[in-house]
Amino acid sequence: MQTILLKTPSMEGQIHVGEDVIQRRLPALTKGQKNFVVTDSNVYALYPQFFEKYFNDTEIFVLPAGEENKNFQSLYAILDKMTGAGLHRTSRLFAVGGGVIGDIGGLAAALYMRGISCVQIPTTLLSQVDSSVGGKTAVDLGGVKNVVGAFYQPCEVLVDPTFLKTLPAREIKCGAGEIVKYAALSGKIFDCLEGNEDQFADLTFLTNLIVDCIKHKAHVVEIDEKESGERRSLNVGHTTGHAIELTSGLSHGESVLWGMLFETRMAVVMGVCEREYGKRLIAMIEKTLKTSPVGKVDFSNIEKDAEKARSDKKNSDDGMIKMSVAKEKNEWAILALPFETYRKALVAAVKNKI
Ligand SMILES: NC(=O)c1ccc[n+]([C@@H]2O[C@H](COP(=O)([O-])OP(=O)(O)OC[C@H]3O[C@@H](n4cnc5c(N)ncnc54)[C@H](O)[C@@H]3O)[C@@H](O)[C@H]2O)c1
Repeated sequence: MQTILLKTPSMEGQIHVGEDVIQRRLPALTKGQKNFVVTDSNVYALYPQFFEKYFNDTEIFVLPAGEENKNFQSLYAILDKMTGAGLHRTSRLFAVGGGVIGDIGGLAAALYMRGISCVQIPTTLLSQVDSSVGGKTAVDLGGVKNVVGAFYQPCEVLVDPTFLKTLPAREIKCGAGEIVKYAALSGKIFDCLEGNEDQFADLTFLTNLIVDCIKHKAHVVEIDEKESGERRSLNVGHTTGHAIELTSGLSHGESVLWGMLFETRMAVVMGVCEREYGKRLIAMIEKTLKTSPVGKVDFSNIEKDAEKARSDKKNSDDGMIKMSVAKEKNEWAILALPFETYRKALVAAVKNKI
């Protein structure tokens, strides 16, 4: 078991990673107070023995799986059940599932009695490398993703990579998109991943990467918990990825990979990203995109689809499109372009290889 500490002004939390974390930490964490579990229908069906063993006498809220349920109605239903279960200020919520459960469960913990203790147990690759760490919680509203939320740090995160054994390949690829994002920001992760882009199915390889990604994220969150500076680096590939996700039906991770590909090409052409490093990063993204399953892609409407980048949360009121891009190994920069310049650059980046 490896332990990473995350200290922010609001909380000093611990993140434990390893195949033994559940048995080593969960008995102590569930003891001594009233508990409440939020999970989703897939995870609940896949892991009956886990729930039986650790949460036998606990109220369990099972949300139907899927992003469409990360909404206000579900949040209300969770809070209603928490109230009905008679939870106190000293009670603890366990969010067991992927990023959807982590986000909505974390927000319920933040709101109930103005905040009760929260433990995250992420079960997808995306949630293990990224979303369970850092305290961002949210639900979607009015078709806008994550628009209602709070920063609320879990007291512990238990990352057990054996959950990934039941994860479909599409979801592994989704997490791989976020891992390549970390490679774009950290020389150590870049060196570990370069040439090994076909190893995402190897649990030992993945576990080492998960630890390095979490260490990187914890460091960034410690410097900038509320995303006013360094934390914006974690949006690499996400501005264009967001537009692609909204228009293509591809998974989040695959959309981020395409977004990273096009934004890195733009950054190289505009002299923001160093050319040789940019070429290596592009090769890494392309190899990851080729791993199975490959989604159906059609960028013939990209000129129109670019509009969707305008609605991205990362932009501000000045009308500029803001992208976090890799600059060179271990360095990143903000590339901000007026919308028309962005649109033309994106069309060129889709057509032209570097
Ligand atoms: N808070 C953050 O910092 C942050 C960062 C990135 C993404 N997110 C959010 O995370 C969400 C995406 O997370 P996700 O990709 O984990 O999606 P998800 O939670 O929808 O999980 C994906 C699918 O995998 C299933 N699943 C979960 N664990 C499984 C397992 N062990 N075996 C088999 N199936 C399993 C789920 O039931 C679901 O069908 C989005 O809502 C996104 O906005 C949050």
